[in-house]
Amino acid sequence: MDKEFRIIPENEPERQYYFIELAKKLREEKENETGRPLTYHVTTFGCQMNARDSEKLTGILEAIGYTCEEKEEEADFVIFNTCTIRDNADQKVYGRLGYLHGKKNRDRKRVIALCGCMMQEKSAVEKIKKSYPFVNIIFGTHNIYKLAELICSACQFEDTMVIDIQDGSNEIVEDIPSLRKYPFKSGVNIMFGCNNFCTYCIVPYVRGRERSREPEAVIREIEKLARDGVKEVMLLGQNVNSYGKGLLRNISFAELLKEVEKVPGIERIRFMTSHPKDLSDELIEVMSSSDKICRHLHLPLQSGSTRILERMNRRYTKEQYLELALKIREKIPDIAITTDIIIGFPGETAEDVDDTLDVIEKVRFDGAFTFIYSKRKNTPAEKMPDQVPRDLAQQQFDRVLSKVQETAREMAGKRTGKTEKVLVEEKSDHSEGFVSGRLSSNLVVHFRGDESLIGQIVNVRLDSCKNFYYIGERV
Ligand code: SAH
Ligand code: SF4
Ligand code: F3S
Repeated sequence: MDKEFRIIPENEPERQYYFIELAKKLREEKENETGRPLTYHVTTFGCQMNARDSEKLTGILEAIGYTCEEKEEEADFVIFNTCTIRDNADQKVYGRLGYLHGKKNRDRKRVIALCGCMMQEKSAVEKIKKSYPFVNIIFGTHNIYKLAELICSACQFEDTMVIDIQDGSNEIVEDIPSLRKYPFKSGVNIMFGCNNFCTYCIVPYVRGRERSREPEAVIREIEKLARDGVKEVMLLGQNVNSYGKGLLRNISFAELLKEVEKVPGIERIRFMTSHPKDLSDELIEVMSSSDKICRHLHLPLQSGSTRILERMNRRYTKEQYLELALKIREKIPDIAITTDIIIGFPGETAEDVDDTLDVIEKVRFDGAFTFIYSKRKNTPAEKMPDQVPRDLAQQQFDRVLSKVQETAREMAGKRTGKTEKVLVEEKSDHSEGFVSGRLSSNLVVHFRGDESLIGQIVNVRLDSCKNFYYIGERV
């Protein structure tokens, strides 16, 4: 049958490969008009999930045959993969949209697409329709894989905004092309969504209900990555410790890790994020007896006050968190524990912040992301009566920040003089002739070396600690 009249396949991903072929033809037609290649740029906001989604978007764009353009404002097709975790994430997107619109393109109308978490928010989409009508395509977090189909629709209806947002999805579409940012390391989704409904957080609303990928699909993907030269994988999920729920086969996250360890060629395994309420002894055991699982655990505390933790719906107390973190430090002595802390949650007093400081003091975090609470639409915390004024929150924030910097500096310094394995990631911006990489603990080290080392794991002596990174020498 003539390709033009082929029936559109019903099942994904075949349907998407059909649209990739169609989008390719449309691209070729446009390129013939101007006699130059059509270019794209993907701008990513937010977390590792979005970074991984952007690799999938890039994979589809490359499969269509677009050429990558490093400068956002020069590209013919720009995608913003958005985040909405805090209000400032939204503001960044509006700011960049305005800036981009002010910059005229060379010889062709620029196509702008918006996707990601912010687009799952009805009010954000309404605002874009009203104030940024030049946007061409809007889609959400559940249909990243449909990019080629959406591009075809946008070509067909040139002056209409193509909007495709799904409220939730149980479907996990496998085997969509993706283009990795680094050849030697990769994120791997093991689950999507979140069921925890922490009262401040928008993620369960924008990413939908928790769904685990089948272990066979995860392992197949990792085996393929290893064959492509990947040495380090980062298993991704909002709460990896609850991996496996709802799957046909009864499997825990610790058991999945053991299977990932067996994949030949994979030398390092990381994961993000661990909710303290679900971290099992089995996981601690598997981590401590493994030489592939990295010595780093990101264990978000959010607050050290039991009263605030309860209002946040975190489902652990200050004492339970402390007991867990100290047990991990005892069983895995060289581990780095990092965390997330929110300051200024409704009802938080200086005494509550004292409790947070006490936990920092006792756990001695190797690093922490500290955030001022940001009100998110339709979350339970939005409606809590005792919202904390910004200036008060800022004062408490400063106390917390200086404490975490103190412990992070101290913990980093403890490695001085040791020799550790480093996965070399890139040319260093520290000095000419240097490269940089990461320790198992995730600390960055810069050392003299040439770019041929990128992607290799080498031994480096950690000579001098510069607060949060090292200058070392290869040995
Ligand atoms: N799933 C992860 C967190 C993902 S969001 C977990 O539960 O550990 C990353 C971090 O953003 C959170 O840990 C929290 O510290 C912060 N965050 C989430 N919502 C926020 C809000 N409304 N205001 C400020 N910080 C927030
Ligand atoms: Fe948000 Fe809590 Fe889910 Fe993390 S566990 S994504 S903070 S609701
Ligand atoms: Fe942001 Fe969505 Fe991640 S809201 S933090 S990009 S899950």
